[in-house]
Amino acid sequence: MDGDTHRACVLVRRGEQVWAYENRCPHTGASLDWRPGQVLNPEGTHIQCALHLAQFRMEDGLCVHGPCVGQALAAVAVHRQGDWVVMDA
Ligand code: FES
Repeated sequence: MDGDTHRACVLVRRGEQVWAYENRCPHTGASLDWRPGQVLNPEGTHIQCALHLAQFRMEDGLCVHGPCVGQALAAVAVHRQGDWVVMDA
């Protein structure tokens, strides 16, 4: 992907904690959202892949259910800055 300067990410929040991951399932590389901006399971406890329903922990992106158990989403480093979430350089 030479010259590609952007990547699609998902941002998830639990209370005051925020995490970001590349929007790319480690199983096939498919995007996670089953509707634009919707990446959580119905209970709101895990990130869920739309294609084969793998579930990932919010806090570290580890897959805990589905075809890619033990693999993880690619983390994107972010930090809170007031009301903003800022991607680290
Ligand atoms: S593509 Fe995500 S679980 Fe298969």
